[in-house]
Amino acid sequence: MKISIIGTGYVGLTTGTCFAEVGHEVTCVDNNPEKVQTLLDGKIPIYEPGLEDLVKKNVAAGRLKFTTSTEEGVENGDVVFIAVPTPPQPDGSVDLSFIEKVAREIAVCLTPQSGYKVIVDKSTVPVKTGEKVAETVKRYAKPGCEFGVVSNPEFLREGSAVDDLLNPDRIVFGSNDERATQLMQKIYEPFVAPVLVTDVESAELIKHAANSFLALKISYINAVGRICEKSGADIEKVAEGIGMDDRIGRKFLNAGLGYGGSCFPKDIKAFIAISESLGYPFDLLKQVEQINDDQRTLFLSKIREKLWVLQDKKIAVLGLAFKQNTDDVRESVAIKLIHEMLAEGAQVTAYDPEATETAKKFGNLDGKITFAEDVYSCVEGAEALVIATEWPEFAHADLAKVRELMSANLIFDGRNLIDPVAAANQGFEYHSIGRPVTGA
Ligand SMILES: NC(=O)c1ccc[n+]([C@@H]2O[C@H](COP(=O)([O-])OP(=O)(O)OC[C@H]3O[C@@H](n4cnc5c(N)ncnc54)[C@H](O)[C@@H]3O)[C@@H](O)[C@H]2O)c1
Repeated sequence: MKISIIGTGYVGLTTGTCFAEVGHEVTCVDNNPEKVQTLLDGKIPIYEPGLEDLVKKNVAAGRLKFTTSTEEGVENGDVVFIAVPTPPQPDGSVDLSFIEKVAREIAVCLTPQSGYKVIVDKSTVPVKTGEKVAETVKRYAKPGCEFGVVSNPEFLREGSAVDDLLNPDRIVFGSNDERATQLMQKIYEPFVAPVLVTDVESAELIKHAANSFLALKISYINAVGRICEKSGADIEKVAEGIGMDDRIGRKFLNAGLGYGGSCFPKDIKAFIAISESLGYPFDLLKQVEQINDDQRTLFLSKIREKLWVLQDKKIAVLGLAFKQNTDDVRESVAIKLIHEMLAEGAQVTAYDPEATETAKKFGNLDGKITFAEDVYSCVEGAEALVIATEWPEFAHADLAKVRELMSANLIFDGRNLIDPVAAANQGFEYHSIGRPVTGA
């Protein structure tokens, strides 16, 4: 099928590439000329495992194209996906100006001769956005243009986006129009996954409700972790015991510094705002947010308690990305923590396997901290080591070597990556989340 994607970021690029991989003809549009040029030069602007090879393969096969022209996109696609940002506004509600703009841009490119088009919202949006998109397109399109509007929320996880897209656990789309439903079914035919077809509003709500539930699991286990710290229990064992109940499951029960990234913080805020505007104040989600914010503050107070004053203390931080296997630093807890330590005068050296450049560019850290090349140069001379992102590389670091290189013996593991006994055996005083301190 002929597909276009407006917005070639994490979602647009990976989705477009995977659609091409299963045989569709895809045109990816982005209004950032630098990004499009990078892609035309055969490079990819983000780090996502497996993506680069797949982009090259499908470009070479002639199934994947890049352009800055929405007109070309609309002309080339029978189905036009919207995958532009939906950032939060200061009050937590969603800034829908990107979606509204693209809806207008698509509308003016439609012609009665171009035939029926499906406009699919893939961005994460509040319930009722589909209705607004349809109204907008109708208002700005020439008379006689035929189109349908569909909501097709995306559930990919950065770091495993290619696999998530090629082998999804479910495909959800909401459509109130039979012609659109049939075309969507055709697009997803090559994917082996259960397909849930709903009305537009339910599909929109599914995405916000799913992300909020996952965030709730994270905050829940972090709250239980606080009780573990106060009672001497071990959150890892507690999580294991809870997770063995298959009604609950072990996933998303990892105690740590809390969630960050481009989705959870904004989606939870958005769901709170939408619920409130619809007349239901979703107080449970306000608690989820509060627990998440407090998690970082409590961790910082543990560091402060041990180092006494942070002024001039050399602190090594492992991790800048908001999670492992990505270079995305949007709403990264690691970066927030670093800024808070810098505000107290700490001297920070940080290392991340992939996110150094994005942290320099978007994390406002360039010139403020030292960026190390690997774990060992990062910890050299440090008085404390902070683990802020769960990269597997950090879990496998040679602790004896780390101890030798550091000038004092404190580890604050914000992701429970290291075995507390192994750390104590190497002479560390080891602090983590929801587990007893070892080596003190
Ligand atoms: N990143 C994720 O893990 C993820 C997962 C599921 C859903 N989502 C949702 O998908 C949407 C996109 O997220 P993302 O992470 O891909 O964002 P992104 O910022 O990486 O990409 C968005 C792209 O849209 C482009 N753009 C903006 N306005 C445009 C326009 N008028 N015409 C053409 N291009 C335009 C930008 O230049 C950018 O490249 C958001 O609503 C997000 O919540 C993201």
